[in-house]
Amino acid sequence: MRMSDKLKSIAGEGGDGWELFLRARGMIASGTPVTELTIGEHDIRTAAPVLQAMHEAAKAGNTGYAIMHGQMTLREAVAARVQARTGVPTTYENVLITPGGQSALFAAHIASLDNGQTALYMDPFYATYPGTIRAVGAVDKPVPARAEHAFQPQRADLEAAINESTRTLLINSPNNPTGVIYTPETMQMIADVVQAHGLTLISDEVYDTQIWEGVHISPRSLEGMADHTLVVGSMSKSHAMTGSRCGWLVGPADVIDKLVDLSTVTTYGVPGYIQDAALFALEQGESFEEEIAAPFKRRREVTLKALASQNILTPVPTAGAMYVMLDVRQTGLTGEEFANRLLDERHIAVMPGGSFGNEAAGHVRVAMTIEDSAYEAALKDICSFAAALA
Ligand SMILES: Cc1ncc(COP(=O)(O)O)c(C=O)c1O
Repeated sequence: MRMSDKLKSIAGEGGDGWELFLRARGMIASGTPVTELTIGEHDIRTAAPVLQAMHEAAKAGNTGYAIMHGQMTLREAVAARVQARTGVPTTYENVLITPGGQSALFAAHIASLDNGQTALYMDPFYATYPGTIRAVGAVDKPVPARAEHAFQPQRADLEAAINESTRTLLINSPNNPTGVIYTPETMQMIADVVQAHGLTLISDEVYDTQIWEGVHISPRSLEGMADHTLVVGSMSKSHAMTGSRCGWLVGPADVIDKLVDLSTVTTYGVPGYIQDAALFALEQGESFEEEIAAPFKRRREVTLKALASQNILTPVPTAGAMYVMLDVRQTGLTGEEFANRLLDERHIAVMPGGSFGNEAAGHVRVAMTIEDSAYEAALKDICSFAAALA
């Protein structure tokens, strides 16, 4: 069968960045124990009461076709959470329930780009961004957020990237992979640029409950931005529900309303029993979200302490999310070489920074996603590996 160029373009020419992860999984499958610090998934599973709510909902018969926009109760709960966190008036009409944040990212780009138009995204970036943009028929264009600027986007770089075909800018704060949170000044600058050029801002906020330092500002709350911003949210990271595939897109009511057409021809909504479980999880409030985030907060402290006693690996000053990025350039290796040798020689899997764009090359991303003592031991091993190289 002849495959479309569009399908072939999704992963991109240099692969999609998951090669090391797949190699580590291959080693594990063939019996080699590997300490996995690669993907952003909790070591805890979905909480038992949330599973119970899911089970009850399914048993009660919420197993039929779901309502495409999402169940009203869940849309209202998400709207209330968004309003409480940002102060922006938000109703169910501003909320589309999607199968995870990834689906919301796709919906946001479908909603705002026509074929051949250009979509900007900050580099370093979550690995699916360029493929998502190409999948909707748009042109993906990375904008550097450089290590020397602590990975904060700069106005000059944004301005230099924008031309007459540019329609959207995708940002992610707290950021995967860097762990950086955009400062209030950065967010205001982004809002100014977006408004000056008539762009749509797509703000991926799936890590909004993982804030270790400073504050997270949702750009939708900045003056004049509610009409120009689509916010991506998800139950995956905040409520340890990665496999349940439940997220949302928040934006102007007319756009959200029209996006039902996309749900109709793609996902046909999110299963009702999953939405009931998500509603139950949201109803547990902030203390539940803090409980889910607590292990990463602890491990971040462990990370900073372990790295303070050496001077070869430099951590990017992280403020949020479940990752820490390490600058490995003093070892003389690239991020890719470091990660591959660490896997072969110490059986520890971390992601090469290059999987997340050019600006993260020379770094590796460590996911703080295994139990505390194993995590601490792995970090010490990474430090001793780096010391031996240097
Ligand atoms: C920045 C970012 N956005 C979106 C997603 C997608 O998450 P999900 O589709 O599970 O909600 C992820 C997952 O790792 C992510 O890191």
